[in-house]
Amino acid sequence: MMDKFKLDNKNIIITGGAGFLGRMHAEAIAQAGGHPILGDLYVEEAQEIAAQISTTFHVRACGIQLDVTKKESISEMLQTVLNEYGQVDALINNAANDPKVKETSDGLEHSRFENFSLEQWNNDIEVGLTGSFLCSQIIGREMEKKGKGVILNISSDLGLNAPDQRIYRKEGCPEHLQPVKPVSYSVVKHALIGLTKYLATYWADKGIRVNTLCPGGVYNNQPDAFVTKLTHLIPMGRMANKDEYMAAVLFLLSDASSYMTGSTLVIDGGRHCW
Ligand SMILES: NC(=O)c1ccc[n+]([C@@H]2O[C@H](COP(=O)([O-])OP(=O)(O)OC[C@H]3O[C@@H](n4cnc5c(N)ncnc54)[C@H](O)[C@@H]3O)[C@@H](O)[C@H]2O)c1
Repeated sequence: MMDKFKLDNKNIIITGGAGFLGRMHAEAIAQAGGHPILGDLYVEEAQEIAAQISTTFHVRACGIQLDVTKKESISEMLQTVLNEYGQVDALINNAANDPKVKETSDGLEHSRFENFSLEQWNNDIEVGLTGSFLCSQIIGREMEKKGKGVILNISSDLGLNAPDQRIYRKEGCPEHLQPVKPVSYSVVKHALIGLTKYLATYWADKGIRVNTLCPGGVYNNQPDAFVTKLTHLIPMGRMANKDEYMAAVLFLLSDASSYMTGSTLVIDGGRHCW
């Protein structure tokens, strides 16, 4: 049974591979004997992480330039992977914008729904949702030819529930200037669950499995006040450690989940129950 978790010589593309969790997905793959391919806008970071992973785990990791919003960029990456590795076995749609609340000088709080710009909306959708659509289309086509493949979409606990805006509140700030988690994040993360179900059924008879992982917030030195407010919403009373999704990623990518498609795996310390 344990053999089903092995990813020996599987070539797995991670979009946004140079980011905080992208690196952890890559390590999970490498620890199971797979070759993680880190696609990112920041190719130097991706290559540096890949070099460290190759040395530590003795696998063929690599970093490749990728803009998930551009079809040509995805096709170029795929071609490079096919030339270097021969085939792609799995894809993790992980790249996304994490819309940050920025200070502005025009007296408006731009994260708020009333003020949220079309430009920001379009950009967030383009990276998190259209990027996953395009990567699934271009790389999924290749999997279809082989009659085998796995796609893992990274959503969020905010793909299941609306953000509790109380945790983003600033003390002493007037109501119309209170920052919020932007609408685009909710929409992208909910939509990925829809994309997963669509593709899972579309490709069910083509040997391609498609699932969603919904991680809860990972501790990354956020301010204490924010962490306290957030952890009150989590039955387990804490944020995740960055390595606490690795086993789930391995499960979802490997044959250990061979009868699972179209599913949403929620790992959030119980937050969705409240
Ligand atoms: N960190 C968390 O607490 C958390 C919680 C739940 C869900 N998630 C989700 O996990 C995923 C990874 O999160 P993270 O914390 O590692 O984010 P991150 O911001 O550290 O990494 C995102 C990566 O995506 C890359 N990227 C952005 N635009 C791109 C584009 N057009 N083409 C290619 N790459 C692009 C960035 O360069 C970056 O390296 C995201 O989908 C995020 O929404 C994160």
